[in-house]
Formats: sequence, C-alpha cells, structure tokens
Amino acid sequence: MDRYLVFGHPVRHSKSPFIHTLFARQTQQELKYGLAEPAVDEFAQALRTFFDQGGKGCNVTVPFKEQAFTLVDRLSPRAKRAGAVNTIKLTDDGVLLGDNTDGAGLVADLKSHGVTLADSRILLLGAGGAARGALAPLLAELPSELVIANRTHTKAQQLAAEFHDLGPVTAQIYEQLAGSFDLVINSTSASLQGALPPLAPALIHTDIAIYDMMYGASDTAFISWAKQHGARQTMDGLGMLVEQAAEAFTVWRGIRPGTKQVLRELKRNLGVI
Ligand code: ATR
Repeated sequence: MDRYLVFGHPVRHSKSPFIHTLFARQTQQELKYGLAEPAVDEFAQALRTFFDQGGKGCNVTVPFKEQAFTLVDRLSPRAKRAGAVNTIKLTDDGVLLGDNTDGAGLVADLKSHGVTLADSRILLLGAGGAARGALAPLLAELPSELVIANRTHTKAQQLAAEFHDLGPVTAQIYEQLAGSFDLVINSTSASLQGALPPLAPALIHTDIAIYDMMYGASDTAFISWAKQHGARQTMDGLGMLVEQAAEAFTVWRGIRPGTKQVLRELKRNLGVI
C-alpha cells in the first residue's frame, strides 16, 4: 500500500493522519498515512530513509519546512516563493518534488467562506514563514492593496520588497495603519501565547472579515478581541489546515477530495461542534 507521512517535532497532535485518512476513504484511494517525529538534527536522514523504503510522499511541518526546502531535488514555483516546503512528492521518474500548499489552502478557505479577494484591501499581520507562504497566492487574487504590518517593521519591509513584482504590496507600522480594510489576516504566532498583535480597535468595523491562521477548541485571542470590537465575520485556521491538506492530496494522487464533510468531522473530533 502507498505510504505517506507527516514529519514534524512535535507532531503527535497533528490532525493530518485524520484528515488524509478521510480523504482516502472518500476518494477510494488505497494509502496509509502516519506520523514521524525525528530529532531536529535527524530530519534529513529520516526523510531519506522514508523514501528509500518506498514512501510515496510526505507533509512537513514545524520546524522542518525550511530544511525540507533545501533537501528536495526540485521545487514548485510556489514553494520557491514561499521559501519553505510543506509537501513532498516522489515523482514517477524518481525526483523528490517540493511544493507548498499552505497559501493555496488559505485562499481556498477564504473563498469557501465567501470572502472576496479581488479589488479588496487586505491587511496581513506578521512577517514570518506563515506570512511569506501566503503572499503569492493572495496577490494572485488581485487585491487592490495588500499591507503587511509586523512587530519588527524591517521584516515587513523586506517581504514587501521581495513580493513587489507580484502586486501592490507595502509595509506599514502598526501605529500608522489607516483607512478601511476589507480583510485582516493574522499570521503571527501571538495567539499561541494568548497575546494580541498591537492593532488599533478603530480598524475593526462590522463589515470586515477577520482570519486567524491559528485555531483551537475555542476562539483564539485575536478572534475574541475582533468580535468584542464589532467584527461579525471571523474565521480560524482549521479550514486552512483541511484545504492545504486537500491540495497536497491532489498533488500526490491526482484527485481532489471534498473538504466540507472532512472539516465537519474534524470539528467534531476537536470538540468544536
Ligand atoms: P511562522 O513561521 O509561524 O510565521 P515565525 O517565523 O516565528 O513563525 O513568525 C512569527 C510572527 O509572529 C512574526 O512576524 C512575529 O513578529 P516579529 O517578526 O516581530 O518576531 C509575530 N509575533 C509573534 N508574537 C507576536 C506578538 N506577541 N505580537 C505581535 N507579533 C508577534
């Protein structure tokens, strides 16, 4: 049976085996999907061993995405832009192809929530790996403007300069953000510490869409805060998790699984509904 894995550290709580097992059942694909948690300095060897022993493909998560980028034979254009690899496929001619499905997953999830990206004014909070992965797919949707704000402003400036050829992207200091945004995407890890990015409450209005790439059994700190200040449409990163997985599954198997039912089952599994 074809074997797939997710590499991460820690990875025990990964939802990927659950999601991909449901995708396989739904599309009647015969495959096995497991977990691997190599020591941080043993990832390269573990990856090699997995493919030497007949593995067909894998997902890669924290902290290995940047390392995976350097270990594959070939990179997809979107992985090249993201500077990180979250999906590896062994091609029929024996090449290890590195891809990145995170940004596509974000865009697919936003669209499934009915969020319009074309001609919209988007604010992206954070300038780390998650923001970098999101930029090219977001700009491909032709927003009127995409503003990056980050605690360390120079990092936002660097990202804006790097992606400037793809669309109207600029960097701005949190305190100087102004005007009306249609969508705010929180790519910072602040919610992990229960902290908030330093965003002025005045930027939140009733018609704004709020997206936090983090998720949990209850609202993230950022989503709670946005609701308190009047946001009516709030979304967390659980849908992105399922959509990036669907994109990876499509890369591997050439068949696109449906995500709605799987997302519902995942929520039930997490105790969200
Ligand atoms: P990831 O790969 O998940 O994006 P990362 O590369 O460590 O993780 O980036 C985390 C992002 O969250 C960074 O943009 C970080 O801001 P800095 O560049 O200034 O470090 C941002 N971040 C983390 N904690 C934050 C907080 N409490 N408030 C605002 N931004 C925060």
